[in-house]
Amino acid sequence: MTDRTLYIVTCGAPLASRVGDGVRAARERGWTPYVIPTDAALPWLEGQDLADALVLTGNRKPDEPKRTPKADAVAVVPTIFNTLNAWANGNAHTYPLTTLCAALGSRTPTVAVPFAKSDLTGHPAWLASLAVLRYAGVKISDPGDGTTDAVAPIESGTGQEVARRFRWEWVLDQLDGISI
Ligand SMILES: Cc1cc2nc3c(=O)[nH]c(=O)nc-3n(C[C@H](O)[C@H](O)[C@H](O)COP(=O)(O)O)c2cc1C
Repeated sequence: MTDRTLYIVTCGAPLASRVGDGVRAARERGWTPYVIPTDAALPWLEGQDLADALVLTGNRKPDEPKRTPKADAVAVVPTIFNTLNAWANGNAHTYPLTTLCAALGSRTPTVAVPFAKSDLTGHPAWLASLAVLRYAGVKISDPGDGTTDAVAPIESGTGQEVARRFRWEWVLDQLDGISI
């Protein structure tokens, strides 16, 4: 299938260093990907070949048209503590968060890959947010093996190694299962 639009929202953690691989893998499957980074994700995007997929909307003017077509699906890779909790709570104070809240509200097929260490994942808000997102239909995919039944915390000092082993096909397979 072709002409499918995929938003890849990415946050500030080591797994953002694999977004370029996601753009290439998505294109191979017929998606047209757009990368929507949080400000904190930008350092991890330096040096990655995102071709023309990068969408930076901070300075869009009120009369400027939207630069991206409507998404058929959304991948949030990685979804970190700050963004995951804000998203689940309906906090839309940045462009990436507005994108995520709108995707949830419109039940756009979405796969999220949470990425946080155990000190953060032990916070009760983390579990509550995961429950809210699952209730709303978001597929939650473990960054270590792609399974969707449980999400393991990132062990301290292993973030880059987990990012290196991460496979985009885990996310794209999930999306092919739930989207058009
Ligand atoms: C080197 C580095 C690694 C980080 N790794 C993580 C992480 O794995 N998970 C997480 O929740 N936050 C992590 N952070 C913290 C976030 O980047 C920070 O909370 C940021 O404000 C999140 O903003 P965002 O949600 O808008 O991307 C990391 C920060 C740095 C500098």
